[in-house]
Amino acid sequence: MSISIIGRSIGESATLLLNETAAILKAKGEPLIHLGGGEPKSRTPIDAIINFTGLLNSGEIRYTPVDGTIEMKQAIIRYTEEYYDRKVAPENVIASNGAKQSIMVALQAILDPQDEVIFPAPYWVSYPEMVKLCGAIPVPVHPEDGTFYPRMQDIEMNFTSYTKAIILNSPNNPTGAIYSDEFIADVVRFCEKEGLYLIMDDIYHRLCFDRKKPANCYKYAKVLDENSKLIIVNSVSKQYAMTGFRIGWAVACKKLIEVMSNIQGHQTAGPPVLMQKAAIGAITGVQSGVESLRLTLENNRNVMMDRLNGFDGVRPTKPDGTFYVFADFSTYDKNSTRLSKFLLDKVRVLTMPGIEFGLDGYLRLSTCGSIKDIIEGIERIKWALDPNSPNELYIGERKLVRDWL
Ligand SMILES: Cc1ncc(COP(=O)(O)O)c(C=O)c1O
Repeated sequence: MSISIIGRSIGESATLLLNETAAILKAKGEPLIHLGGGEPKSRTPIDAIINFTGLLNSGEIRYTPVDGTIEMKQAIIRYTEEYYDRKVAPENVIASNGAKQSIMVALQAILDPQDEVIFPAPYWVSYPEMVKLCGAIPVPVHPEDGTFYPRMQDIEMNFTSYTKAIILNSPNNPTGAIYSDEFIADVVRFCEKEGLYLIMDDIYHRLCFDRKKPANCYKYAKVLDENSKLIIVNSVSKQYAMTGFRIGWAVACKKLIEVMSNIQGHQTAGPPVLMQKAAIGAITGVQSGVESLRLTLENNRNVMMDRLNGFDGVRPTKPDGTFYVFADFSTYDKNSTRLSKFLLDKVRVLTMPGIEFGLDGYLRLSTCGSIKDIIEGIERIKWALDPNSPNELYIGERKLVRDWL
């Protein structure tokens, strides 16, 4: 079969694939513990449900403008004012099918084949593939000091005449790292000096711990007119636990939004009107759910860190936000894909291999589930890996006997 060069270069989404495997195992009644998930378990906000059902009951479900309804844009404008202290116009805003599509159309709008896009590693799994979809070249940057906090020199060392854009994600998936204000300020200035686009993927920006706050990039920008190359991306997926609604957005200069809208118009047209209506409810409605989710996640993070710190040979890094803990398991296996598969096969715990995020030897463990799942999940992993654990483990009625250590 003849498949395009780009088509052949794109890998399957490992995280989505593992989630599908988990769903199949669960459906078979397997006692699975899902520490791989990328979505909070809280209920859809009531204002989203009311908005959605109100429109559905009207029986008038139609196309919307490609870049989102006026009401959706107003909600995004309000959001940008509240969380970024920045007043933007409707022409500065596009609503898409998730932050994923906003990032994709932004990249399609700015990249030519062979352009390079820099982003710190570990990174969200889709960045390299999205860049490749544009015929461009992903340039993951591993901080030289071995931390998850890149420095300006790490970026500068990878900058070439082909560099077109930088993507930053803070708090970061998979590490939970919040990049310092100084670093963001430096990157903003560097992008302005070199004429680079800066995509800020802020979708976890309200899920931060220990009173930390991610930087507001507008604060450091000097170019804020029509020549601005800043693209701020956000979404209802994580903060409102509305992953299934598929609504995200981008804020950028008018020309870029126009081009992004032209591209989106031929891909999917406007995002579904019911989903936009629900997103408007979430963004403009009662916000206490976000804070209660944040508190739950902070507590879950603490429990997970506590358990991992008592696990010889595992080196977790305390996340500043998100709902992931990225932990070094290389003492047990340097090959994270093999280790993740082993844990799923032997003790039915789903984890995400670090290699998918650009760093082997690590596993990404999600804190989205219950405390019970976190505790039992880590206990099962420990049992499977630690030679000092007892030889047998009960999962419900099922007795497991360890014959591999
Ligand atoms: C860093 C990051 N950006 C973007 C997305 C996509 O978000 P959405 O569900 O809004 O498409 C995700 C989802 O996991 C993510 O982790």
